[in-house]
Amino acid sequence: MKPVLTANDVRAYYRLVGDKEVRAVDGIDFELQDGEVVGLAGESGCGKSTLAAVLALTATSPLYVKSGEIWMGDKDVLKMNKDAVRKDIRGRYVSVVPQGAMNALNPTVRIKKLAFDILRAHDPNIRFKEAVRQTGERLESVSLPTMVLDAYPHQLSGGMKQRTVIALSTLLNPKILICDEPTSALDVSSQKVVIQMLMKLLREEVIRSIIFVTHELPLLRHFTNRIGVMYAGKMVEIGAMENIIFHPQHPYSSALMDSMLVPEDRMRDKELTGIPGVPPDLKNPPEGCRFHPRCPHAMDICRDKEPPMEAMAERSVACWLLQKQAGNL
Ligand SMILES: Nc1ncnc2c1ncn2[C@@H]1O[C@H](COP(=O)(O)OP(=O)(O)O)[C@@H](O)[C@H]1O
Ligand code: SF4
Ligand SMILES: [Mg+2]
Repeated sequence: MKPVLTANDVRAYYRLVGDKEVRAVDGIDFELQDGEVVGLAGESGCGKSTLAAVLALTATSPLYVKSGEIWMGDKDVLKMNKDAVRKDIRGRYVSVVPQGAMNALNPTVRIKKLAFDILRAHDPNIRFKEAVRQTGERLESVSLPTMVLDAYPHQLSGGMKQRTVIALSTLLNPKILICDEPTSALDVSSQKVVIQMLMKLLREEVIRSIIFVTHELPLLRHFTNRIGVMYAGKMVEIGAMENIIFHPQHPYSSALMDSMLVPEDRMRDKELTGIPGVPPDLKNPPEGCRFHPRCPHAMDICRDKEPPMEAMAERSVACWLLQKQAGNL
């Protein structure tokens, strides 16, 4: 498989008043293959939305990319000028459904006008009628009635609003769609419909790859190929979906799985345990492994030295304990 996106050692910080910064994405390597669905999980505040914005090239002040590279195809997109990114990359190569987007739709504008504005930003010559026709087709392909075109956002149910936002985000057939917590505000049946819709867009090759962000790791079973687990601005474990859901190795991934219920037979009798403590303040994250203050396995080295990401046991994982168990320490 060929990567459609490669991030090398990306750091993205929020500038605060004074010389303080929030190190929300702090040295992440990540690859997305053509045709892949990758889930990104982690508690609130771990940097998922920040990473989503950075990969979608929508980061705005006070967030800035401090260092690293992001390759999309053969383009080093962080080095491209803003106009070229707007014209050729955003919306066409990569598109994002930001967290809470469905509640951020302008309430005074009909869906067809929103769609027209999106299409016109990329093709100033497009006629309103043509924009409406294209949008109607996209709505139909995701099983939404074309009457949605005439609706104002508040006239749609939560599930329909979210599907409309996804349809609008894919009008230009982007290769990569990044969905940030697209199901979080929805009931279980609407969640299913949104996920089915995303899979349909993939099957119909409207989009080629998906990054699906959620704070609920178990939700990612069944429809993702790989899962990455983020903690405190770092990727701590990434691997095939089955490995991460059913055999997590990093103590944080295990704790995250144990803190949530999965309606699966093999997990039915599981006792839920919360993760003690809270994620650290990313203005001043802990030295060494950022999980060490909450980790039941923390050793001296964990407090001093950051564990590197290592490929082991069919995944990549950053943990000294696992290194020790593998005989590498
Ligand atoms: N506009 C902002 N200014 C300063 N810090 C921010 C801002 N937005 C998010 N953060 C901080 O960045 C860190 C990562 O946040 P975020 O990417 O939203 O995490 P997640 O999506 O995993 O919940 C958190 O510590 C959060 O408080
Ligand atoms: S490196 Fe140490 S503190 Fe961090 S997760 Fe592994 S065992 Fe726990
Ligand atoms: Mg978020």
